[in-house]
Amino acid sequence: MKVQINPELCQGHGRCYDLAPDLFGADDEGYGLVLGDGTVSQDAKHDADLAVLNCPEQAIELVEE
Ligand code: F3S
Repeated sequence: MKVQINPELCQGHGRCYDLAPDLFGADDEGYGLVLGDGTVSQDAKHDADLAVLNCPEQAIELVEE
């Protein structure tokens, strides 16, 4: 399972990298970035779900590999 951010929807609210800093970072303007290839480990699944639920723009998706 991987996380993805839709850059057309992201408005830089920053909840993803606050809630799940192991999965997301920020670019120079505060927009969210997926770290690495976005793979979600079993341990990170809860954080990934939190990020999906808390992004006000619904820009984050969890996708099956
Ligand atoms: Fe963007 Fe949503 Fe994160 S708007 S910075 S993907 S919380």
